[in-house]
Amino acid sequence: MAESSRILIKGGKVVNEDCSVISDVYIENGKIVEVGPNLQISAGVRVINATDKLVIPGGIDTHTHMELAFMGTKAVDDFHIGTKVKKEMETLAKEKGVNSFKMFMAYKDVFMLQDSELYAAFAHCKEIGAIAQVHAENGDLIAEGAKKMLSMGIRGPEGHELCRPEEVEAEATQRAITIAHAVNCPLYVVHVMSKSAAKVVADSRRDGRVVFGEPIAAGLGTDGSHYWHKDWAHAAGFVMGPPLRPDPSTPAYLMDLLANDDLSVTGTDNCTFSVCQKALGKDDFTKIPNGVNGVEDRMSVIWERGVHSGKMDENRFVAITSSTAAKIFNFYPQKGRIGKNSDADVVVWDPNLTRRISAKTHHQAVDYNIFEGMECHGVPIVTISRGKVVYEDGQLHISPGQGRFIHRGPFSDFVYKRIRQRDQVDRPAAVIRKPYEGKVISV
Ligand code: URP
Ligand code: ZN
Ligand code: ZN
Ligand code: ZN
Repeated sequence: MAESSRILIKGGKVVNEDCSVISDVYIENGKIVEVGPNLQISAGVRVINATDKLVIPGGIDTHTHMELAFMGTKAVDDFHIGTKVKKEMETLAKEKGVNSFKMFMAYKDVFMLQDSELYAAFAHCKEIGAIAQVHAENGDLIAEGAKKMLSMGIRGPEGHELCRPEEVEAEATQRAITIAHAVNCPLYVVHVMSKSAAKVVADSRRDGRVVFGEPIAAGLGTDGSHYWHKDWAHAAGFVMGPPLRPDPSTPAYLMDLLANDDLSVTGTDNCTFSVCQKALGKDDFTKIPNGVNGVEDRMSVIWERGVHSGKMDENRFVAITSSTAAKIFNFYPQKGRIGKNSDADVVVWDPNLTRRISAKTHHQAVDYNIFEGMECHGVPIVTISRGKVVYEDGQLHISPGQGRFIHRGPFSDFVYKRIRQRDQVDRPAAVIRKPYEGKVISV
Protein backbone atom coordinates (compact mmCIF):
# COMPACT_ATOMS: atom_id res chain seq x y z
CA MET A 1 0.00 0.00 0.00
CA ALA A 2 1.38 3.44 -0.90
CA GLU A 3 2.79 5.40 2.02
CA SER A 4 0.51 8.34 1.15
CA SER A 5 -2.60 6.26 1.83
CA ARG A 6 -1.33 5.27 5.29
CA ILE A 7 -0.82 8.05 7.79
CA LEU A 8 -0.02 7.92 11.49
CA ILE A 9 -0.66 11.14 13.40
CA LYS A 10 1.44 10.80 16.55
CA GLY A 11 1.18 12.27 19.99
CA GLY A 12 -1.49 14.92 19.48
CA LYS A 13 -4.45 15.72 21.67
CA VAL A 14 -7.47 14.23 19.88
CA VAL A 15 -10.42 16.53 20.43
CA ASN A 16 -13.99 15.39 19.89
CA GLU A 17 -17.14 17.19 21.01
CA ASP A 18 -17.36 15.10 24.18
CA CYS A 19 -13.73 14.67 25.30
CA SER A 20 -10.04 15.30 24.61
CA VAL A 21 -7.42 12.53 24.89
CA ILE A 22 -3.72 12.31 23.98
CA SER A 23 -3.79 9.65 21.27
CA ASP A 24 -2.33 8.54 17.99
CA VAL A 25 -4.60 8.36 14.95
CA TYR A 26 -3.94 5.77 12.25
CA ILE A 27 -5.44 6.38 8.81
CA GLU A 28 -5.64 3.93 5.94
CA ASN A 29 -7.40 4.34 2.60
CA GLY A 30 -9.36 7.39 3.60
CA LYS A 31 -10.69 6.03 6.88
CA ILE A 32 -9.62 6.28 10.50
CA VAL A 33 -8.66 2.73 11.40
CA GLU A 34 -7.49 3.16 14.98
CA VAL A 35 -7.35 5.82 17.67
CA GLY A 36 -5.31 5.09 20.78
CA PRO A 37 -2.08 5.69 22.70
CA ASN A 38 1.28 4.56 21.27
CA LEU A 39 -0.06 2.74 18.23
CA GLN A 40 2.51 0.37 16.74
CA ILE A 41 2.18 0.51 12.96
CA SER A 42 4.38 -1.44 10.52
CA ALA A 43 6.95 0.37 8.39
CA GLY A 44 6.04 2.33 5.29
CA VAL A 45 3.56 4.61 6.98
CA ARG A 46 3.78 8.38 6.76
CA VAL A 47 4.17 9.82 10.28
CA ILE A 48 2.92 13.29 11.20
CA ASN A 49 4.16 14.53 14.55
CA ALA A 50 1.33 16.28 16.40
CA THR A 51 3.03 16.74 19.80
CA ASP A 52 1.59 19.85 21.52
CA LYS A 53 -0.99 20.15 18.76
CA LEU A 54 -4.70 19.36 18.64
CA VAL A 55 -6.13 16.77 16.25
CA ILE A 56 -9.65 17.85 15.39
CA PRO A 57 -12.36 16.70 12.96
CA GLY A 58 -12.42 18.60 9.68
CA GLY A 59 -14.71 21.60 9.83
CA ILE A 60 -18.16 21.41 8.26
CA ASP A 61 -19.33 24.70 6.82
CA THR A 62 -23.11 24.50 7.02
CA HIS A 63 -23.87 27.27 4.56
CA THR A 64 -22.11 28.44 1.39
CA HIS A 65 -23.12 29.78 -2.03
CA MET A 66 -20.37 28.94 -4.51
CA GLU A 67 -20.85 30.36 -8.02
CA LEU A 68 -24.33 31.58 -7.03
CA ALA A 69 -26.02 33.58 -9.80
CA PHE A 70 -27.49 36.42 -7.77
CA MET A 71 -28.49 40.07 -8.13
CA GLY A 72 -27.32 40.37 -11.71
CA THR A 73 -23.95 38.68 -11.30
CA LYS A 74 -22.32 35.48 -10.09
CA ALA A 75 -20.42 34.69 -6.86
CA VAL A 76 -16.71 34.42 -7.68
CA ASP A 77 -15.80 31.46 -5.48
CA ASP A 78 -17.15 28.37 -7.25
CA PHE A 79 -19.45 25.38 -6.61
CA HIS A 80 -23.13 25.61 -5.90
CA ILE A 81 -26.05 23.27 -5.73
CA GLY A 82 -29.62 24.44 -5.28
CA THR A 83 -33.16 23.65 -6.30
CA LYS A 84 -36.82 23.83 -5.19
CA VAL A 85 -40.34 22.64 -6.12
CA LYS A 86 -42.40 20.10 -4.17
CA LYS A 87 -41.98 16.89 -6.17
CA GLU A 88 -38.30 17.56 -6.69
CA MET A 89 -37.87 18.02 -2.94
CA GLU A 90 -39.27 14.56 -2.39
CA THR A 91 -37.06 12.97 -5.05
CA LEU A 92 -34.02 14.79 -3.69
CA ALA A 93 -34.70 13.69 -0.11
CA LYS A 94 -35.68 10.10 -0.89
CA GLU A 95 -33.28 9.26 -3.70
CA LYS A 96 -30.55 11.83 -4.08
CA GLY A 97 -29.26 12.33 -0.55
CA VAL A 98 -30.29 15.98 -0.22
CA ASN A 99 -32.01 16.47 3.13
CA SER A 100 -32.22 20.23 3.65
CA PHE A 101 -34.06 23.03 1.87
CA LYS A 102 -33.72 26.75 2.37
CA MET A 103 -36.82 28.95 2.24
CA PHE A 104 -36.67 32.74 1.94
CA MET A 105 -38.80 35.30 3.76
CA ALA A 106 -36.71 38.10 2.19
CA TYR A 107 -35.93 39.14 -1.41
CA LYS A 108 -39.46 40.29 -2.27
CA ASP A 109 -40.56 39.47 -5.85
CA VAL A 110 -37.58 37.10 -6.22
CA PHE A 111 -37.46 34.32 -3.61
CA MET A 112 -39.81 35.56 -0.87
CA LEU A 113 -42.52 33.16 0.30
CA GLN A 114 -45.81 34.15 1.93
CA ASP A 115 -46.77 32.64 5.30
CA SER A 116 -49.16 30.15 3.68
CA GLU A 117 -46.37 29.02 1.34
CA LEU A 118 -43.99 28.64 4.27
CA TYR A 119 -46.63 26.59 6.05
CA ALA A 120 -46.92 24.28 3.04
CA ALA A 121 -43.14 24.05 2.60
CA PHE A 122 -42.54 23.25 6.28
CA ALA A 123 -45.33 20.66 6.26
CA HIS A 124 -43.75 19.04 3.22
CA CYS A 125 -40.24 19.08 4.74
CA LYS A 126 -41.63 17.32 7.77
CA GLU A 127 -43.39 14.72 5.64
CA ILE A 128 -40.15 13.84 3.81
CA GLY A 129 -37.91 14.13 6.89
CA ALA A 130 -35.91 17.08 5.60
CA ILE A 131 -34.40 20.00 7.51
CA ALA A 132 -36.41 23.16 6.78
CA GLN A 133 -34.04 26.10 6.70
CA VAL A 134 -35.17 29.67 6.68
CA HIS A 135 -33.67 33.02 5.73
CA ALA A 136 -35.64 35.05 8.26
CA GLU A 137 -36.19 38.70 7.34
CA ASN A 138 -39.45 40.47 6.62
CA GLY A 139 -39.19 41.07 2.86
CA ASP A 140 -42.13 43.50 2.71
CA LEU A 141 -40.64 45.74 5.41
CA ILE A 142 -37.24 45.65 3.66
CA ALA A 143 -38.83 46.77 0.39
CA GLU A 144 -40.66 49.64 2.14
CA GLY A 145 -37.57 50.58 4.15
CA ALA A 146 -35.41 50.67 1.02
CA LYS A 147 -37.88 52.99 -0.75
CA LYS A 148 -37.86 55.25 2.31
CA MET A 149 -34.03 55.42 2.48
CA LEU A 150 -33.72 56.19 -1.23
CA SER A 151 -36.39 58.90 -0.96
CA MET A 152 -34.33 60.46 1.86
CA GLY A 153 -31.27 60.54 -0.38
CA ILE A 154 -29.51 57.67 1.44
CA ARG A 155 -28.04 55.67 -1.46
CA GLY A 156 -24.82 54.24 0.08
CA PRO A 157 -24.22 50.91 1.90
CA GLU A 158 -25.41 52.36 5.22
CA GLY A 159 -28.91 52.35 3.65
CA HIS A 160 -28.70 48.57 3.47
CA GLU A 161 -28.67 48.26 7.26
CA LEU A 162 -30.98 51.21 7.89
CA CYS A 163 -33.75 49.71 5.74
CA ARG A 164 -33.67 46.37 7.59
CA PRO A 165 -32.96 46.93 11.30
CA GLU A 166 -32.78 44.13 13.85
CA GLU A 167 -36.51 43.84 14.46
CA VAL A 168 -37.07 43.03 10.78
CA GLU A 169 -34.95 39.93 11.34
CA ALA A 170 -36.34 39.15 14.80
CA GLU A 171 -39.97 39.39 13.67
CA ALA A 172 -39.42 37.01 10.77
CA THR A 173 -37.48 34.60 12.99
CA GLN A 174 -40.37 34.50 15.48
CA ARG A 175 -42.90 34.09 12.66
CA ALA A 176 -40.96 31.24 11.03
CA ILE A 177 -40.69 29.41 14.36
CA THR A 178 -44.40 29.87 14.97
CA ILE A 179 -45.31 28.54 11.53
CA ALA A 180 -42.94 25.57 11.87
CA HIS A 181 -44.39 24.80 15.29
CA ALA A 182 -47.91 24.80 13.85
CA VAL A 183 -46.96 21.75 11.77
CA ASN A 184 -44.51 20.33 14.34
CA CYS A 185 -41.65 20.77 11.86
CA PRO A 186 -38.10 21.22 13.12
CA LEU A 187 -36.57 24.48 11.94
CA TYR A 188 -33.04 25.61 11.15
CA VAL A 189 -32.54 29.39 11.06
CA VAL A 190 -29.62 30.27 8.79
CA HIS A 191 -27.35 33.28 9.30
CA VAL A 192 -28.60 34.55 12.67
CA MET A 193 -27.07 38.03 12.56
CA SER A 194 -28.58 40.08 15.39
CA LYS A 195 -28.89 39.92 19.14
CA SER A 196 -32.68 40.19 18.86
CA ALA A 197 -33.04 37.31 16.41
CA ALA A 198 -30.62 35.21 18.47
CA LYS A 199 -32.75 35.89 21.56
CA VAL A 200 -35.83 34.69 19.70
CA VAL A 201 -34.07 31.42 18.83
CA ALA A 202 -32.75 30.99 22.38
CA ASP A 203 -36.15 31.69 23.98
CA SER A 204 -37.86 29.29 21.60
CA ARG A 205 -35.41 26.52 22.45
CA ARG A 206 -36.12 27.13 26.11
CA ASP A 207 -39.82 26.93 25.32
CA GLY A 208 -39.14 23.48 23.90
CA ARG A 209 -39.17 24.21 20.17
CA VAL A 210 -36.97 22.05 17.96
CA VAL A 211 -35.08 24.94 16.40
CA PHE A 212 -31.42 25.39 15.54
CA GLY A 213 -29.69 28.75 15.04
CA GLU A 214 -26.70 29.20 12.78
CA PRO A 215 -24.57 32.31 13.26
CA ILE A 216 -21.84 32.77 10.65
CA ALA A 217 -18.16 33.70 10.73
CA ALA A 218 -18.91 37.26 9.54
CA GLY A 219 -21.36 37.93 12.38
CA LEU A 220 -19.00 36.41 14.95
CA GLY A 221 -15.87 38.17 13.73
CA THR A 222 -16.89 41.65 12.62
CA ASP A 223 -19.80 44.10 12.76
CA GLY A 224 -21.93 46.49 10.75
CA SER A 225 -20.13 49.71 11.66
CA HIS A 226 -18.26 49.26 8.36
CA TYR A 227 -21.36 50.29 6.40
CA TRP A 228 -20.66 53.86 7.55
CA HIS A 229 -17.04 53.78 6.30
CA LYS A 230 -16.18 56.78 4.09
CA ASP A 231 -14.62 54.57 1.39
CA TRP A 232 -17.57 53.23 -0.65
CA ALA A 233 -15.79 50.02 -1.74
CA HIS A 234 -14.83 49.18 1.85
CA ALA A 235 -18.39 49.72 3.08
CA ALA A 236 -19.98 47.80 0.18
CA GLY A 237 -17.73 44.81 0.83
CA PHE A 238 -19.70 44.07 4.01
CA VAL A 239 -23.15 44.15 2.40
CA MET A 240 -25.00 40.92 3.03
CA GLY A 241 -28.48 39.94 4.16
CA PRO A 242 -29.40 39.97 6.99
CA PRO A 243 -26.85 42.74 7.52
CA LEU A 244 -24.05 42.79 10.02
CA ARG A 245 -25.25 44.83 12.96
CA PRO A 246 -23.78 48.19 14.00
CA ASP A 247 -24.13 47.29 17.69
CA PRO A 248 -20.49 46.39 18.45
CA SER A 249 -21.45 43.97 21.23
CA THR A 250 -23.22 41.68 18.74
CA PRO A 251 -20.34 39.29 17.85
CA ALA A 252 -19.48 38.55 21.49
CA TYR A 253 -23.15 38.06 22.34
CA LEU A 254 -23.66 35.58 19.50
CA MET A 255 -20.54 33.73 20.64
CA ASP A 256 -21.89 33.50 24.22
CA LEU A 257 -25.09 31.96 22.89
CA LEU A 258 -23.10 29.49 20.83
CA ALA A 259 -21.07 28.55 23.90
CA ASN A 260 -24.32 27.86 25.80
CA ASP A 261 -26.00 25.84 23.05
CA ASP A 262 -28.64 28.54 22.60
CA LEU A 263 -27.23 28.65 19.09
CA SER A 264 -26.11 25.37 17.58
CA VAL A 265 -23.74 25.48 14.61
CA THR A 266 -21.64 27.84 12.54
CA GLY A 267 -21.50 28.37 8.80
CA THR A 268 -20.18 31.18 6.65
CA ASP A 269 -22.88 31.90 4.05
CA ASN A 270 -19.77 32.40 1.87
CA CYS A 271 -21.11 34.25 -1.18
CA THR A 272 -18.34 36.36 -2.62
CA PHE A 273 -18.48 39.23 -5.08
CA SER A 274 -15.41 41.23 -5.97
CA VAL A 275 -15.42 45.00 -5.64
CA CYS A 276 -16.23 45.58 -9.33
CA GLN A 277 -19.31 43.34 -8.91
CA LYS A 278 -20.37 45.12 -5.73
CA ALA A 279 -20.07 48.31 -7.80
CA LEU A 280 -23.28 47.38 -9.63
CA GLY A 281 -24.80 49.23 -6.68
CA LYS A 282 -22.44 52.21 -6.55
CA ASP A 283 -25.34 54.68 -6.81
CA ASP A 284 -28.04 52.57 -5.14
CA PHE A 285 -27.42 50.22 -2.20
CA THR A 286 -30.32 47.95 -3.23
CA LYS A 287 -28.28 46.88 -6.28
CA ILE A 288 -25.14 45.84 -4.37
CA PRO A 289 -24.87 42.03 -4.69
CA ASN A 290 -25.38 40.63 -1.19
CA GLY A 291 -22.71 38.37 0.27
CA VAL A 292 -19.38 38.17 2.07
CA ASN A 293 -16.43 35.79 2.45
CA GLY A 294 -15.79 33.41 5.34
CA VAL A 295 -15.14 29.86 4.18
CA GLU A 296 -11.36 30.08 4.53
CA ASP A 297 -11.25 31.93 7.84
CA ARG A 298 -14.19 30.50 9.79
CA MET A 299 -12.18 28.13 11.98
CA SER A 300 -9.54 30.71 12.94
CA VAL A 301 -12.05 33.49 13.61
CA ILE A 302 -14.14 31.23 15.84
CA TRP A 303 -11.10 29.86 17.65
CA GLU A 304 -9.88 33.41 18.33
CA ARG A 305 -13.19 34.90 19.43
CA GLY A 306 -14.61 31.74 20.98
CA VAL A 307 -11.84 29.62 22.48
CA HIS A 308 -8.88 31.99 22.86
CA SER A 309 -11.26 34.51 24.46
CA GLY A 310 -12.30 31.90 27.04
CA LYS A 311 -15.97 31.77 26.04
CA MET A 312 -15.88 28.07 25.13
CA ASP A 313 -13.55 25.10 25.33
CA GLU A 314 -11.98 23.08 22.52
CA ASN A 315 -14.73 20.45 22.70
CA ARG A 316 -17.49 22.98 22.22
CA PHE A 317 -15.43 24.38 19.32
CA VAL A 318 -15.53 20.96 17.66
CA ALA A 319 -19.26 20.74 18.31
CA ILE A 320 -20.09 24.09 16.72
CA THR A 321 -17.68 23.83 13.79
CA SER A 322 -18.19 20.17 12.91
CA SER A 323 -19.96 17.47 14.91
CA THR A 324 -23.33 19.13 15.53
CA ALA A 325 -23.60 19.92 11.81
CA ALA A 326 -22.88 16.26 11.04
CA LYS A 327 -25.62 15.22 13.48
CA ILE A 328 -28.22 17.68 12.17
CA PHE A 329 -27.55 16.85 8.53
CA ASN A 330 -27.36 13.13 9.28
CA PHE A 331 -23.83 12.03 8.46
CA TYR A 332 -22.41 11.60 11.95
CA PRO A 333 -20.07 9.85 12.81
CA GLN A 334 -18.96 9.37 9.21
CA LYS A 335 -18.01 13.05 9.50
CA GLY A 336 -17.56 15.22 12.56
CA ARG A 337 -15.65 12.72 14.70
CA ILE A 338 -12.13 11.42 15.15
CA GLY A 339 -13.02 7.80 15.74
CA LYS A 340 -12.62 4.32 14.34
CA ASN A 341 -14.32 3.94 10.93
CA SER A 342 -14.98 7.66 10.52
CA ASP A 343 -13.80 9.35 7.33
CA ALA A 344 -10.25 10.59 7.75
CA ASP A 345 -11.08 14.31 7.63
CA VAL A 346 -8.63 15.59 10.17
CA VAL A 347 -6.97 18.88 11.01
CA VAL A 348 -3.76 19.14 13.00
CA TRP A 349 -4.37 22.43 14.75
CA ASP A 350 -1.88 24.62 16.57
CA PRO A 351 -3.81 26.60 19.18
CA ASN A 352 -0.82 28.80 20.03
CA LEU A 353 0.34 29.90 16.60
CA THR A 354 -1.13 33.09 15.21
CA ARG A 355 -1.79 34.34 11.71
CA ARG A 356 -2.99 37.64 10.30
CA ILE A 357 -5.88 37.45 7.85
CA SER A 358 -5.42 39.35 4.60
CA ALA A 359 -6.74 39.35 1.05
CA LYS A 360 -3.08 39.51 0.01
CA THR A 361 -2.45 36.01 1.34
CA HIS A 362 -5.85 34.30 1.27
CA HIS A 363 -6.65 31.56 -1.25
CA GLN A 364 -10.12 32.79 -2.19
CA ALA A 365 -10.94 34.36 -5.56
CA VAL A 366 -12.54 37.45 -4.03
CA ASP A 367 -10.32 40.57 -4.00
CA TYR A 368 -10.89 41.74 -0.41
CA ASN A 369 -11.44 40.13 2.98
CA ILE A 370 -13.92 41.37 5.61
CA PHE A 371 -11.52 40.15 8.33
CA GLU A 372 -8.58 42.08 6.85
CA GLY A 373 -5.86 42.63 9.46
CA MET A 374 -7.43 40.41 12.12
CA GLU A 375 -4.86 38.45 14.12
CA CYS A 376 -6.06 34.97 15.07
CA HIS A 377 -4.69 32.32 17.37
CA GLY A 378 -5.42 28.86 16.02
CA VAL A 379 -3.71 27.85 12.81
CA PRO A 380 -4.15 24.64 10.78
CA ILE A 381 -0.79 22.91 10.31
CA VAL A 382 -1.92 19.92 8.26
CA THR A 383 -5.35 19.25 6.77
CA ILE A 384 -6.31 15.74 5.70
CA SER A 385 -9.38 15.10 3.57
CA ARG A 386 -10.53 11.49 3.18
CA GLY A 387 -7.05 10.29 4.07
CA LYS A 388 -5.15 12.61 1.73
CA VAL A 389 -3.00 15.51 2.90
CA VAL A 390 -4.57 18.50 1.16
CA TYR A 391 -2.82 21.32 3.04
CA GLU A 392 0.61 21.41 4.61
CA ASP A 393 3.44 23.93 5.05
CA GLY A 394 1.15 26.68 3.84
CA GLN A 395 0.57 24.93 0.50
CA LEU A 396 -2.66 23.47 -0.88
CA HIS A 397 -2.39 20.07 -2.57
CA ILE A 398 -5.74 19.84 -4.30
CA SER A 399 -7.18 19.65 -7.77
CA PRO A 400 -10.70 20.56 -8.95
CA GLY A 401 -13.14 17.69 -8.69
CA GLN A 402 -11.52 16.05 -5.66
CA GLY A 403 -14.48 16.90 -3.45
CA ARG A 404 -17.25 14.36 -2.96
CA PHE A 405 -20.97 14.82 -2.45
CA ILE A 406 -22.10 13.28 0.83
CA HIS A 407 -25.40 11.43 0.61
CA ARG A 408 -27.59 12.53 3.52
CA GLY A 409 -30.60 10.45 4.40
CA PRO A 410 -33.87 11.92 5.68
CA PHE A 411 -35.17 11.86 9.27
CA SER A 412 -31.96 12.61 11.12
CA ASP A 413 -32.42 11.22 14.64
CA PHE A 414 -30.77 14.26 16.17
CA VAL A 415 -33.52 16.43 14.69
CA TYR A 416 -36.51 14.13 14.32
CA LYS A 417 -36.63 11.86 17.38
CA ARG A 418 -38.48 14.40 19.51
CA ILE A 419 -40.68 15.41 16.59
CA ARG A 420 -41.83 11.82 16.00
CA GLN A 421 -42.58 11.28 19.65
CA ARG A 422 -44.57 14.51 19.84
CA ASP A 423 -46.61 13.40 16.86
CA GLN A 424 -47.55 10.31 18.86
CA VAL A 425 -48.40 11.96 22.16
CA ASP A 426 -49.42 15.52 21.32
CA ARG A 427 -52.37 14.84 19.03
CA PRO A 428 -55.25 17.20 19.71
CA ALA A 429 -58.45 15.25 20.38
CA ALA A 430 -62.06 16.28 19.95
CA VAL A 431 -64.18 16.58 23.12
CA ILE A 432 -66.87 13.87 23.23
CA ARG A 433 -70.17 15.59 24.05
CA LYS A 434 -73.87 15.24 23.43
CA PRO A 435 -75.09 17.00 20.29
CA TYR A 436 -76.42 20.51 20.87
CA GLU A 437 -80.17 20.33 20.59
CA GLY A 438 -81.21 23.92 21.33
CA LYS A 439 -82.23 26.70 18.94
CA VAL A 440 -80.05 27.83 16.02
CA ILE A 441 -80.68 31.25 14.45
CA SER A 442 -81.54 31.27 10.78
CA VAL A 443 -79.18 33.22 8.49
O1 URP B 1 -26.26 38.19 1.56
C1 URP B 1 -26.33 36.97 1.50
N1 URP B 1 -26.65 36.32 2.59
N2 URP B 1 -26.08 36.35 0.34
C2 URP B 1 -26.26 35.00 0.05
C3 URP B 1 -27.69 34.66 -0.18
C4 URP B 1 -28.40 34.42 1.12
O2 URP B 1 -29.41 35.06 1.36
O3 URP B 1 -27.98 33.61 1.91
ZN1 ZN C 1 -29.93 33.79 3.13
ZN1 ZN D 1 -14.13 49.19 8.13
ZN1 ZN E 1 -26.99 32.01 2.32
